[in-house]
Amino acid sequence: MSRLPSRVVAFDAAYDRSTFNSGSEPLDRYLREQVTQDIRRRVAACFLALTDEQHIAGYYTLATASVPLADLPADIGRKLPRYRAVPAIRMGRLAVDQTFKGQGLGGALLVNALWRAASSEIAAFALIVDAKDDQAAAFYRHYEFLELADSPLHLFLPLATVR
Ligand SMILES: CC(C)(COP(=O)(O)OP(=O)(O)OC[C@H]1O[C@@H](n2cnc3c(N)ncnc32)[C@H](O)[C@@H]1OP(=O)(O)O)[C@@H](O)C(=O)NCCC(=O)NCCS
Repeated sequence: MSRLPSRVVAFDAAYDRSTFNSGSEPLDRYLREQVTQDIRRRVAACFLALTDEQHIAGYYTLATASVPLADLPADIGRKLPRYRAVPAIRMGRLAVDQTFKGQGLGGALLVNALWRAASSEIAAFALIVDAKDDQAAAFYRHYEFLELADSPLHLFLPLATVR
């Protein structure tokens, strides 16, 4: 069994992306073909989990976003200022190479993203995620993410609870 990665670093095109295999072709293709463009255009930031041998074991992306107040559960929205929307950070993609699945890496990357979002100097109310299917949504619910009203695949976790 390969050793679990020990570090998460900002994306660098020097790392080999050609063999990354999460079992989700769109997520693998994004890492191979699109992420460098998104980073260059500043529409996403990407972070990589690396093994000691510098292989990519997982990745996630972050970008700013906003959540309509009306999409938050009433008991949470009631405690926020009466803005139309609140600021958020979106984790648009999260993927773990199949070699490492079920060993805690996905959870560790999610915690890393939450920590990064919660410790930013730029305020955001929540980390929001776009789950690609019901199974992915169940993964986020396992970490106490709550559904947004617009779709059961859109979930959020208030960052104040993370801090
Ligand atoms: C979803 C994914 C990131 C999970 O990564 P992973 O490394 O296999 O998950 P972990 O081993 O870190 O699991 C952490 C915890 O989540 C739980 N978990 C994992 N997948 C789950 C699921 N689908 N539903 C509910 N809980 C789940 C595990 O049981 C574990 O619980 P524990 O800490 O209480 O033991 C990974 O399977 C993946 O890359 N899938 C393909 C892409 C994808 O679906 N991305 C999701 C966002 S679109």
